[in-house]
Amino acid sequence: MTRSQTIVTDPVGDCIPARQRTAIRRKLLRWYDRHKRDLPWRRKNRSQDPYAQWVAEIMLQQTRADTVIPYYERFLSRFPDAMSLARGRQETVLKHWEGLGYYRRAILLHKACQQLRTENTPVPRLAEKLKTLPGIGDYTSAAIASISSDEPIAAVDGNVARVIARLFCVELDVLSSKGKKRITKLADQLIPKARPGDFNQAWMDLGSKVCTPRSPSCDICPLEKECLARATGSTDTLPIRGTAIKKKIPVVHCVVGVLSHHQNFLVRRRPIGGLWGGLWEFPNIEIAPKKEKTQAMKALVESIMIEPNEVVSLSTIRHQLTHRLMMFHVFAGQVANKEGKDIGDAYRWVTRAQFAKRSVSTAHRKIYQAAC
Ligand code: ADE
Repeated sequence: MTRSQTIVTDPVGDCIPARQRTAIRRKLLRWYDRHKRDLPWRRKNRSQDPYAQWVAEIMLQQTRADTVIPYYERFLSRFPDAMSLARGRQETVLKHWEGLGYYRRAILLHKACQQLRTENTPVPRLAEKLKTLPGIGDYTSAAIASISSDEPIAAVDGNVARVIARLFCVELDVLSSKGKKRITKLADQLIPKARPGDFNQAWMDLGSKVCTPRSPSCDICPLEKECLARATGSTDTLPIRGTAIKKKIPVVHCVVGVLSHHQNFLVRRRPIGGLWGGLWEFPNIEIAPKKEKTQAMKALVESIMIEPNEVVSLSTIRHQLTHRLMMFHVFAGQVANKEGKDIGDAYRWVTRAQFAKRSVSTAHRKIYQAAC
């Protein structure tokens, strides 16, 4: 760059000049054609199917693409279209989601397909319509509609926001409403009428492979020459994220009992709604961090069983969630008499084989492994 050249950062309010828009579109799409990731939802038979895109986008909401791939294949072979998913039992749907986490995503996807079946409507193709379904917001509807149906609408998630914040040197907190607005405004101006889905996915790939949060690979970036952060040496300080003080995440302690009777274990189903809703688990209860654990466990067993037996402390399992750290203090005990108190019908005695078939959170699979 010559000394006399001034860099105009953050062209807010202004249009991105037509020449620059065209250059960015051309360079990004050409790069995508050469370097796009080979992902199952991008294959020919699926790319124009809004249901196949919908499942992919829901799975990708909190999970990395590499992790999603095997779950996606398994889910689509069991539920190849919205009607087959609508007909599936919730338990079966959850079983096919097991290990991906954030199970509410699966419950809402299932619910939305049942709604479509009741209304006798196909999966919508336009973002506005998609957004009326449970579990679909701005980003997801834009991604599905642009990829499956060529609707020219920008899909802006955290990765895309980072790339755009750097490209235009947006010096606003990208998590603030002002920052989000500005990023969206820029993204909206760039979305092309031709190949909007590829363009959105090109941002995603660029964000995950090149314009990474730390140490971006600017020397191989197709937009290096357009990038204001690169020109001003601010790729390390952009994007600005979460200037608000970060809250410490809480640590939640639970005692959990793996109670067995010969070859059977006692499990219960969590109520729908809330964390791990609809999944099966070992009986457990949240306790205060300093509470005596053996006493708490004894009280829990007594509240369930008519003839409680001795339980022994086994180990503590740590399980990190986005908003809390769970500490499960695991106890195990043999129960001589299988009979329980009148505790409703959420509880079941299951064999190992039956346990393997139920939908269980990763945390409780870890507990099973530690105890059985
Ligand atoms: N992340 C979210 N949506 C994606 C997509 N369609 N391809 C790759 N990564 C994604």
